[in-house]
Amino acid sequence: MGKRSGYKRRKPNEGERATLDGHGGKSRVMDDKDDDDDDRRGDGGSVATTTTATTHSVLETSALTALDEGMKRAVKANRKRARDAQTLLKRAMKVKDVKFFNRMIKDFGNDKQFGFAKEAFERISRAGLSPNVYSYTNMMNAAARVGELEFMRTLWDNMALNCDEQANEVTYTVLVKGEAQSGHLKHALGRVREMIACGVEPNARTYSTLLRNCVRYSDVERARECLDLMRERGAAPDATACEYYIKTMCGELLVQQTLQFMRDIQNQDGIEITAASYVALATASSLVFADEKTARNACRDARAAIDVGGWAQEDDNDDKFQQQGDDDSSAPSKSVQLFLQLRAKDALQEIDAVEKYLNDTSEERREEIAVQASSGVERASNVIFVEDAQDMNVHERNARWLARFGQRKDVRVEVCSGHGDWITTRAGRSTDVQWIGVEMRRNRVALTWMKALRLNVSTNITMMCGMAHNVLRREIPDESVQEVYVNYPDPPEWVGSSQVLVDGAFLNDVHRILKPGGYLTCVTDDSTYAMRMCRELAKVPGLFKSTEASGKPFVSGVPDDYGASYFDSMWTNGAQNDRYFIKYSKL
Ligand SMILES: C[S@@+](CC[C@H](N)C(=O)[O-])C[C@H]1O[C@@H](n2cnc3c(N)ncnc32)[C@H](O)[C@@H]1O
Repeated sequence: MGKRSGYKRRKPNEGERATLDGHGGKSRVMDDKDDDDDDRRGDGGSVATTTTATTHSVLETSALTALDEGMKRAVKANRKRARDAQTLLKRAMKVKDVKFFNRMIKDFGNDKQFGFAKEAFERISRAGLSPNVYSYTNMMNAAARVGELEFMRTLWDNMALNCDEQANEVTYTVLVKGEAQSGHLKHALGRVREMIACGVEPNARTYSTLLRNCVRYSDVERARECLDLMRERGAAPDATACEYYIKTMCGELLVQQTLQFMRDIQNQDGIEITAASYVALATASSLVFADEKTARNACRDARAAIDVGGWAQEDDNDDKFQQQGDDDSSAPSKSVQLFLQLRAKDALQEIDAVEKYLNDTSEERREEIAVQASSGVERASNVIFVEDAQDMNVHERNARWLARFGQRKDVRVEVCSGHGDWITTRAGRSTDVQWIGVEMRRNRVALTWMKALRLNVSTNITMMCGMAHNVLRREIPDESVQEVYVNYPDPPEWVGSSQVLVDGAFLNDVHRILKPGGYLTCVTDDSTYAMRMCRELAKVPGLFKSTEASGKPFVSGVPDDYGASYFDSMWTNGAQNDRYFIKYSKL
C-alpha cells in the first residue's frame, strides 16, 4: 500500500523506538513533545493552549539548550520531526488517496504524534475523501496510545454514525485496549462480549490487552472471566494468557489459588508454566508461607525456564499495531531483543532477592512476616487507596494524618514510586524517616509493599495508591513533609497532553505540603521533560528557588549517593545515560 501511493516515512531508529517500559508505559519515541511554542504550532496546530508568557516568568528554550547538549539535540530533532510531518501532510493533500492518509495516521499514532495524527484524519475530508474503517481504527489507536480516552470513544461513536463499514476485530481490540488501560476493565470486557454479539471474533491480541491490564489493576475477577470467555469461544488460553492470570493472583498474594491453577493447566491442558509465572509465585509464596519449600522450588523452576527459553516475547507489544500494516518482519527487532534481555535480567535479580531473603531471614521472622502478608495488600495498615477526587475535608485529612504518623518529624514523599526500589533502599538507609510512596498502579504498590516486607522496612514506609495530584490534595496536610522526590516520572504522552505530572497545580501542592525550607527534587532522563519541568518551576518564582549556587535550573547527572531505581537501571542498561537533576528549595 505504502509503495503504491508513494508513501515514504522515515523509520524511527532503534534508540527512538525502544520501548523499555514493558509495563505498557512510555515508548520513548521523542516525537511531538517539544513544548517550545514554535514547535507546538508545528504539531498540526491542534495542541492544547498553555499559560501564556505574559502572566508568568519565562525560561526560554534557548537559555536551557545553551546549558546542555542533550537538550539542544532534542529540540533540533523535534523541530525536524515537526517539519517532516508537515511535509507529509502537504503531500497527502496532493496525493488524495485515503490509504496514504491512513498510513500516516497509523505511523503518527505509533510514534505518539497525536496532534499530527488528528490533523491527518481531519484532512481526509478536506481532501474531498471519506474516512473508512481503517482511518477510524488507526485514529482510535493513536488516541488510545496517548491515553486520550474520551477522544477515542467519540471517534467510535462517530464511526457508527458516519462510516458505512463495520468495525473489524482490530477496531474492537483498540477500543478494548483504550478502555482497559484506563482501568475500565468491566467496560472493556463488556466490549469484548459486544464484539462477539456483533459477529466479530476476538483474537489473541484482544484477550491479551485485557489480561495485561488485569495485572496492572490487580483485577483477579476480571482476569478469571476473561479466561473463561476464551475457553467458551474455543480460544484456549495459552501460556502467556495463563501468565497474566498468575501474575494478577500473585500480586494479590493468592498463592494457594495460584498453585491450584498451575496444577490444573499443567495436568489438564498441558500448558508449560512460563519463567515470569514462576518468578511471581516465588515472590508471593516466600512472603505468605513461612515454609520455604514452595518459594525455593519456584526459584529453581524460574531459573530453569529462563535457561531453556530465555525470556518469552510478549505478544502484546503496542508498537506492533497493524491495521493497514506492511510491517513484514516477524523477527524481534533489536530494541525488542534488548527489552527481553532486560526482563530476563530483572527476573534473575528478583529470584536472587527472594533466595537472599530465604537464606538471611530466620524462620521465626518469616512467620511474623507471613502473618503480616496474609492480610493482603488490600487490608495492610500501611497501604492507603486514595479514590478519585470527591469532596475533601481538611479537618478529616489532618486527623487521618495525625492518626497515621503522629508527630513524625521527618516525613519524605516519593511521587511515582514505581517498583519501589529507590524508596525501599532509602528507607533502609534512613530508618528514622517516615517514607511515603505515591503510585497510581496497584500492582506496583503491591510489589513495593512486598519488597518493604522482605527488606524489613515496612514500618517506615507507607504506600498511597492513586493519582499524585489527588493523593497530595486529599491525604497530605500543609507543611507536613520535609522532602518530595519525583524520580523518572513518565513524560507527557504528547505535546498537548493535559495529563502531565509536574505542572503548576502539582508545584503548588508540593509547596503547600513542604515544611519551610523543604526540598523538591525531580530526576529524569528525558531532556524534553527536563526542560518542561524547569519552565514550570520558572513560572512559579515565588514558590521555589534552585539549590544551585549559580541559580542554574538543573544539573546534569545525579549525586553518587542518590540511589538507583528500576527505571534508572533500565535506561542505563539501554545506554540512555543522560540524567537531569532538578533540586529546588521551598521559599
Ligand atoms: C517511569 S516510572 C518510574 C518509576 C520509579 N520512580 C523508577 O524510577 O523506577 C513512572 C511511574 O509513575 C507512575 N505514575 C505516572 N503518573 C502518575 C500519577 N499521576 N500519579 C501517580 N503515579 C503516577 C507510573 O505508574 C509509573 O510507575
